[in-house]
Amino acid sequence: MTFDRRPKIAPSILSADFANFGAEIRAIEDQGADWVHVDVMDGHFVPNITFGPQTCRAIRPHIRTVMDVHLMIAPVDPYIEAFANAGADFISIHVEAGPHTHRSLQAIRAAGARPGIAINPGTPVEAVENLLDLVDLVNVMGVNPGFGGQKFIPSQLLKIERLRRMIGDRPIHIEIDGGVARDTIGAIAQAGADVFVAGNAVFSGGSVSNPEVYGSNISALREIAKV
Ligand code: DX5
Ligand code: ZN
Repeated sequence: MTFDRRPKIAPSILSADFANFGAEIRAIEDQGADWVHVDVMDGHFVPNITFGPQTCRAIRPHIRTVMDVHLMIAPVDPYIEAFANAGADFISIHVEAGPHTHRSLQAIRAAGARPGIAINPGTPVEAVENLLDLVDLVNVMGVNPGFGGQKFIPSQLLKIERLRRMIGDRPIHIEIDGGVARDTIGAIAQAGADVFVAGNAVFSGGSVSNPEVYGSNISALREIAKV
């Protein structure tokens, strides 16, 4: 897969119909989604529970683009193999989820997936400085993880700018996750992000029987992100 920093819209299925993931995924990809963001939550690292490796395995055949799995779980290590075997292209883990992040990221790559590191709004960007050579993606949380539809936390813009300088010309994506909407994505793109996770901003107003709304939401977001 070649690396480029052109804006990518990655709808999060956290905001999709949980009874209809296959059709929802086909709809967003037909309507222009670049990646599919898959939010795994364990009710321990974050105060919400979604689904696990089995659901990821079940939805994998419906994803034609990129399966971007975001693990909001702790501990991480016992589950890396299962998510890699489920077919995840990217597996992002939280730097806050445990003491041996360096080793966990190596294990993700060894399991055949592309490693990503995610950081919560309260975590300084320096926390990932020594991990950058192990990852293909840094996920900067725009909200406190656990739920869709929250407001973007503006202090994360400075963090993205610093991260962009830290990365330099290394082929590492900067993903923003949470609170991405038409009124926030421009400043986020300006700060240096290139992958934009959007749940609410893509799915609200649409459905599998009215997917054109997904398409217009995705195109509007991508247009604004082309700073
Ligand atoms: C939050 C998740 C985000 C969330 C984004 O814990 O990691 O991916 O689904 O949802 P919106 O775009 O609605 O803020
Ligand atoms: Zn996420």
